[in-house]
Amino acid sequence: MTDMLDPDNIPEHIAIIMDGNGRWAQHRGLPRSMGHKAGLDSLRIVVRALNTLGVKYLTVYAFSTENWKRPKEEVGMLMSLIREYIYREIMALHRQKVKLSFIGDLTGLPEDVQHRLSQAVEKTRMNPGMHFNIALNYGGREEILHAARCLAKQIRAGDMDPQDIDDQVWQKYLYTAGTPDPELIIRTSGEMRLSNFLLWQGAYSELVVTECLWPDFREDDLLEAIREFQGRQRRFGGVT
Ligand code: IPE
Ligand code: IPE
Ligand code: MG
Repeated sequence: MTDMLDPDNIPEHIAIIMDGNGRWAQHRGLPRSMGHKAGLDSLRIVVRALNTLGVKYLTVYAFSTENWKRPKEEVGMLMSLIREYIYREIMALHRQKVKLSFIGDLTGLPEDVQHRLSQAVEKTRMNPGMHFNIALNYGGREEILHAARCLAKQIRAGDMDPQDIDDQVWQKYLYTAGTPDPELIIRTSGEMRLSNFLLWQGAYSELVVTECLWPDFREDDLLEAIREFQGRQRRFGGVT
């Protein structure tokens, strides 16, 4: 399957909007929570496959700033699954030499979850493999506002001049500081929208939307999405 890919045109950074867990469960007459649980298998498979493929950065959207609007039970269940995922997967990720990090307003998460996340980050900090970013309590608008506030404080303190703010400086204040923009954003479940994901970073990302629901997403679907990316003509506003 990988032989149909151009090895010289593998994206350095792939981002994924993991959507469709609820519908997957509904189609089976199961509670939505079972869809979220099943989605973790897809995540495991994707992380392993991309790390093996030599992709340098993977960012996945796991919980948005808007997902707090869901019923309390579902939010609670998602927080439990995050705990469980870190607890169960950390050793496997470490063995794969994956470097884990999180983006989003982590201070809004339950304290014990925050604690687990920072332990996991610390454990994998020196790993040379794929950088795996999980977006939790993440919103693109919130990230932009956060950056604006940080910069405003620096200016007020006299440490920076407004003229100094350019693209490069700005990027340092985003949660993704140090990470290149994703060349490819994949969304599962057929929804044609960004839902507040990587608004700044995704300015010129190629979008690939697949009808596949996230819990059904497997290595073949991933390779198919990369193949579709490789067929795109990227112009960045220029001409070819
Ligand atoms: C994505 O699946 C997971 C999260 C947003 C946490 P959904 O829960 O949004 O599933 P659908 O879109 O309702 O099917
Ligand atoms: C986006 O999915 C958020 C995550 C995948 C974590 P949603 O299901 O929350 O987005 P909408 O409501 O369909 O836009
Ligand atoms: Mg959804």
